[in-house]
Amino acid sequence: MNVLLIGGGGREHAIAWKLAQSKNLHKLYTAPGNPGTAMCGENIPIGVNDTDQLVDFAKQNKVELVVVGPEAPLAAGVVDAFEAAGIKAFGPSAGAAQLEADKAFAKQLMRSVAISTAEGQVFDRFQDAKAYIASRDKPVVIKAAGLAAGKGVFVCDDPADGILAAEKIMQDKLFGSAGDKIIVEDKLLGEEASILAFVDGRNIYCLESSQDHKPIGDGDTGPNTGGMGAYSPAPVVTDKLMKQIVREILVPVVDGMNRNDTPYKGVLYAGLMITAGGPRVLEFNVRFGDPETQPILMRLKSDLLEVCLAVCNGTLDTITLEWDRRPAVCVVMASDGYPGDYEKGKKITGLDEAGKLKDVVVFHAGTAKRNGDTVTNGGRVLSVTALGQTIAEAKARAYTAVDKIKFDGAYCRRDIADKAIGNRV
Ligand code: AMP
Ligand code: GLY
Repeated sequence: MNVLLIGGGGREHAIAWKLAQSKNLHKLYTAPGNPGTAMCGENIPIGVNDTDQLVDFAKQNKVELVVVGPEAPLAAGVVDAFEAAGIKAFGPSAGAAQLEADKAFAKQLMRSVAISTAEGQVFDRFQDAKAYIASRDKPVVIKAAGLAAGKGVFVCDDPADGILAAEKIMQDKLFGSAGDKIIVEDKLLGEEASILAFVDGRNIYCLESSQDHKPIGDGDTGPNTGGMGAYSPAPVVTDKLMKQIVREILVPVVDGMNRNDTPYKGVLYAGLMITAGGPRVLEFNVRFGDPETQPILMRLKSDLLEVCLAVCNGTLDTITLEWDRRPAVCVVMASDGYPGDYEKGKKITGLDEAGKLKDVVVFHAGTAKRNGDTVTNGGRVLSVTALGQTIAEAKARAYTAVDKIKFDGAYCRRDIADKAIGNRV
């Protein structure tokens, strides 16, 4: 069958790479894609938010399944538009995508079904937020309620910094209208984990666990980014904990969404803090995580196309997921300056050499082709991902590949997966 994948990041290259392995795939189109997805199918120059053009393209090219990568088109209703045109689309409706696109909605839903999350309050007036934060004498986390490409969260040990963050979001409009409302919540302590699950409205099927590295600097220092690296599985998520997460978080949220008349279909991503008191939800995302998807899909042995169809058809209970038991580690190579301003157009060398290493895949994210060269074209440039017999071996292999790739101002964290290896608590 013909499939249209929407997006153009490292996550989408990983999804395209996996879909291209399906025996049922006839033609894969990616809109707009990147040089990595171009190696798995054909890139189509349509933007992720050009819904009408995407639907027209799908109709004209006999697309039978659409897979949506990023959150913005989901929140804008791209799945609703494809379904109205009679085309199956993997991902939640706009109503269900509020679970990520409106953190105030997510907090309310969690409260309604008693899911453990940080204590928090929603504000739509800066003065009220300021007074509340000033009244706290403990660390606070300030979050833009809307979509902010993973950068809308400020963890502030000093409430005075929390007020500054609220000011940047609400007064200076750092994230535009995404900051009309903010959430002020307690800082949680513990280790983070990402749990992704396929959900078909009724059935829930968890993927293997993973862990992201959000801050830009080694030792989790500096501002948050979209994610600087990930590994799977996350040893912090034991089998017992996974059962608890399904029982206390995933089942109630899927039930809550049904009761709210926004049934959930697609990948549901729970960003968790594993605290001394058990797992607490930091956020829900309504799509595959980036970069978690890169190591997770390298470990998935089953046919992703078949799974996506089962989600759309409500037949997830007929599917079995098989996994490579070897762990995978993904290191993100970024442009100097990210998550702030950065330059583009730097020539990248060493990609072929790195990609030839055993059990290594170099997924493209912010790259472009220029006069036959591959050049940088974004903040997060590449997701260098490797399998190994142990997490330590996967990490060593990923960094061996990273060290073969060069571009001006290339930056990566050097401590991806150390938490899992036990180097650092
Ligand atoms: P979010 O986009 O809500 O997941 O937040 C991004 C990152 O900020 C998370 O991955 C955590 O590292 C951090 N974070 C968010 N909320 C909290 C919290 N309540 N306590 C501690 N850290 C948090
Ligand atoms: N890795 C975090 C995210 O995809 O939002």
